[in-house]
Amino acid sequence: MDQLLGDCTLDGLRRRRSWKWTEYPSDVLPAWVAEMDFDLAEPIKDAVREAITAGDCGYPHPLGFGEVYAAFAAQRFGWAPDPQHVYAVPDVMTGIAEVLQEVTPHGSGVVINPPVYPPFFFRLRQAGREVVEAPLARDPSGRYQLDPDALDAALASDDVAAYLLCSPHNPTGRVWSRDDLGTVADICARRGAVLIVDEIHAPLALPGAQHIPFLSTDLDGGLAQRTFTFTSASKGWNIPGLKCGLAVVAGDQAAAALERRWEALLPSHLGVLATEAAFADCVPWLKAVCGQLDKNRVLLAKLLARYLPAVGYLPPEASFLAWLDCRPLAVAAADATAGAAGEAAAAASPAGMADAADPAAGFLARARVAVTSGAGFGEQGLGFVRLNMGTSPDLLQEIVRRMGSAVAA
Ligand SMILES: Cc1ncc(COP(=O)(O)O)c(C=O)c1O
Repeated sequence: MDQLLGDCTLDGLRRRRSWKWTEYPSDVLPAWVAEMDFDLAEPIKDAVREAITAGDCGYPHPLGFGEVYAAFAAQRFGWAPDPQHVYAVPDVMTGIAEVLQEVTPHGSGVVINPPVYPPFFFRLRQAGREVVEAPLARDPSGRYQLDPDALDAALASDDVAAYLLCSPHNPTGRVWSRDDLGTVADICARRGAVLIVDEIHAPLALPGAQHIPFLSTDLDGGLAQRTFTFTSASKGWNIPGLKCGLAVVAGDQAAAALERRWEALLPSHLGVLATEAAFADCVPWLKAVCGQLDKNRVLLAKLLARYLPAVGYLPPEASFLAWLDCRPLAVAAADATAGAAGEAAAAASPAGMADAADPAAGFLARARVAVTSGAGFGEQGLGFVRLNMGTSPDLLQEIVRRMGSAVAA
C-alpha cells in the first residue's frame, strides 16, 4: 500500500476506540460501519494537534471555509460553487433533517431510492416526514439504475414535498451520469419538489467514474432555489468523528433557509479545521486512497470468485462499500438438503447461510466477520450484505476467506 495510508495492522486498529473497532469482541473482524482503516493524512493530524496545543477548542467560525471547498471542487470536479453559498454543518444527516424541517411541511413525504443508506428511513421519520419509496431498478446485468417513472409517480402526490437523492449512491456504489441528473432535475422542476442531494461519497469517485456535482448541472432557476447539496470530508478522509459536513446551495432562498437554522447547524470547530486541511492539503492522500480502493474492488472480485463464488457483486464506481447479493447462498443451503425437510432445516438454522433475510447474522456467528445486514437498506436489501473494503488487501483477504469458510462449513 502507499505509505501515506499506513499498514492497517490489527494491533494498531484494535487500539482505536471508534464504533467500528469496539462494537464486537476482538475475535470479530469488523467490515461494517463506513469507517476506513487507513492512517489519517498528516495535515489533518497537524491541524487538530495544533488546535489542541493552542487550546483552540471553541465555537467554529466559517472564515475561509467556502473558499477552501470551492478551490477543491474546482480542481476535483471542474466546478467551483460560490464560496458564500458553502456552509459548514455538523454532519450530513443533521443538515438534511434540519433543512427538511425548515422547507417542507410536517408530515409531508420525502422520496428515497432503496436499497439505500438506512438513516434515510429513520432520520426522515424522526424529523416528522413520511418516507416514500421509489426503488432503484436493475438492468439485466444487475446494475442498479434510477427509475424516472417511479420517481415521477412518487413526486406526483400532493403530499410529497421533497426528493432525497444519494449521489454517489450508498450501498450500490453507482455514480450517476449527467443524463441521470438531468432527468432528475427535469422531474423535480416539473413537480415543484425540494431536492436534497447527498454527495458525501463524491470525493471517492474511483478511476473510470466522474462524479458530477448536482449544482454544477444546468438547473432551472426555480429548482436552484430549492436544491440543497450536502457533502463532507468525513468519508473521503475518514474523519466522521470530528463532526463537520458541508451544505452547498445555488440560490439566495436556499441560503436563507440554511441561515435560519444556523444554531442547529453549528459544526465542531475541530471538524472545520480538519475539513479545511483535508480539502486544501490532503489531495495526495485522497488519490492514494482512491488508488487503493480501485485495487481492492478488483481484489474483492477475485476473492469472492475463490471463496464465495455464488455471491453476486458488481464493483462500486465510488467509495469503499461493496454490496453483495448473498441470496444464492440461501438457495445453495436449501438445495444441499433434500426437499421440503431440507428447506425447513435450512430456514431453522440459527446461524447458517440459510437465513435468506439476514446473511450478516450468519457471517457474524460462523465467520466472526461483521458486515452490515442489507435488511436496513429497505426490503430490496433482504438477502444482501454490505462489506466495507476500506482496509488493507491482507485484511480484506482474511475477511472474505473467513466468510467463505463459514459457508463451506
Ligand atoms: C450516503 C450517506 N449519507 C450520510 C452519511 C452519514 O454522514 P454524516 O456522518 O455526515 O451524517 C453516510 C455515512 O456513511 C452515508 O453513506
